Amino acid sequence: MTTGPIGVFDSGVGGLTVLRALRERLPDSDFVYLGDTARLPYGTKSPDTVRRYALQAAEALRTYHVRALVVACNTASGVALDVLTARWPEVPVVGVVEPGAAAACARSPRGEIAVIGTESTIRGGAYQAAIARLRPEARVRARACSVFVALAEEGWFDTAAAEAVARAYLGDWLEGPEPPDALVLGCTHFPVLAGLIRRIAGDELELVDSASTTAAVLADRLEAGGAAAPSGRAAAGGVRFLATDGAERFARVGGRFLGTELDPAAIEIVDL
Ligand code: DGL
Repeated sequence: MTTGPIGVFDSGVGGLTVLRALRERLPDSDFVYLGDTARLPYGTKSPDTVRRYALQAAEALRTYHVRALVVACNTASGVALDVLTARWPEVPVVGVVEPGAAAACARSPRGEIAVIGTESTIRGGAYQAAIARLRPEARVRARACSVFVALAEEGWFDTAAAEAVARAYLGDWLEGPEPPDALVLGCTHFPVLAGLIRRIAGDELELVDSASTTAAVLADRLEAGGAAAPSGRAAAGGVRFLATDGAERFARVGGRFLGTELDPAAIEIVDL
């Protein structure tokens, strides 16, 4: 049984929203987080390229002897989860799409579910397929909102520009005759824009992100595999941060995703 940290990766800082939920759920675990900031965004790249990047990120985390891998990126989960699971049978590999779809199905009163994500996530249809499996009668509409990734990476969570973009993407759904009752934030960069979306959408719409459900799925998988807590040493709850570019930027923007300050000196730059 591997007893190392839990490995988590994303194209950038978006996955820190998932890391935050993982730390809350598994406070005694150590984590190693990798943001592939040099190659961000993943969401506009082809499936083959994203799969290759995801395999390289996973291989890099593997050198830290991780006891589980969390693909904290919807884009990579959509195209690479199967290949990562097959390549790495000895540890639980958990993505964010299935947990997000399950949360949406559970929280949508009328089954009017809208999904927003990157171009790749929406084009690949992983959310649409997962929701159809779990709740076949649900009506799913989906839209790529790529500019949200740039706004989130820029730290423009609550600006007039961000609001204009949100209205341009979501306005017709929200003002249409049958508005959605649940909106899946199908990109780990989007939860930081939740306050803004809530403001333009009103209180009725359920905003669903996969962070806490993904953490619950991982905790169950670790428990089932007898690896709920690392054995043989004191519990630590620390995080090692790796990025492929821009320690200062990662710390500055990432701190807002994680909800705690990050020290640029603590971000290790690695090459995949
Ligand atoms: N945060 C990633 C996701 O969940 C992708 C953002 C990007 O690199 O395009 O899809």
